[in-house]
Amino acid sequence: MNPVMAWHEEHAYFARLLQVLQEEVDTLYTGQTPNYELLLDIVSYLREYSDQVHHPREDEAFKRLARRSPELRPILVRLHQEHRVIAQSGDRLRELVEEAVSDAVLPRADIEAAASTYIVYYRNHIATEEKEVLPVAARSLTEDDWLAAKEAAPAKADPLVGGDAGDRFRHLRRRIAGETPPHHRAAPATSA
Ligand SMILES: [Fe+2]
Ligand SMILES: [Fe+2]
Repeated sequence: MNPVMAWHEEHAYFARLLQVLQEEVDTLYTGQTPNYELLLDIVSYLREYSDQVHHPREDEAFKRLARRSPELRPILVRLHQEHRVIAQSGDRLRELVEEAVSDAVLPRADIEAAASTYIVYYRNHIATEEKEVLPVAARSLTEDDWLAAKEAAPAKADPLVGGDAGDRFRHLRRRIAGETPPHHRAAPATSA
């Protein structure tokens, strides 16, 4: 698979995870309780894989792209900064969900706000990369650049796919594999 296609596929996968996250957050609007273990799996996965592998590789690609396509610099600087914001807000969201998993009494509005903000911000980040960066990267990055980007982060196995994941992410794997029956949830109470 060519590197741009692989990059795009990762975005499609993250978008799918954000969609599942959104579906769980939607249960809050209808007064139901989200599957907090599933929420925790998704946020942990994004913290471990996206923040530690996908984003460092992008940062290296951005650095090289800024040299080859200077007109993209302002966007690349902003996207690089957004990686830090995503990591920080993901960390905060994970703390909140961990508290919810451990049955701490926690205002639902806190999780709702943190998760909703995270989802919107993350989706917007991915959309900007897809629209503004990937097409230019496909034209201007060299094989050396792609190799340097790949080597910018450890080649650790994707924790979701690797056979050594053990019991970790089992809620997420079950959901993604479609092994759980689909929920039939009511639409949000308000359509504001
Ligand atoms: Fe990114
Ligand atoms: Fe990305």
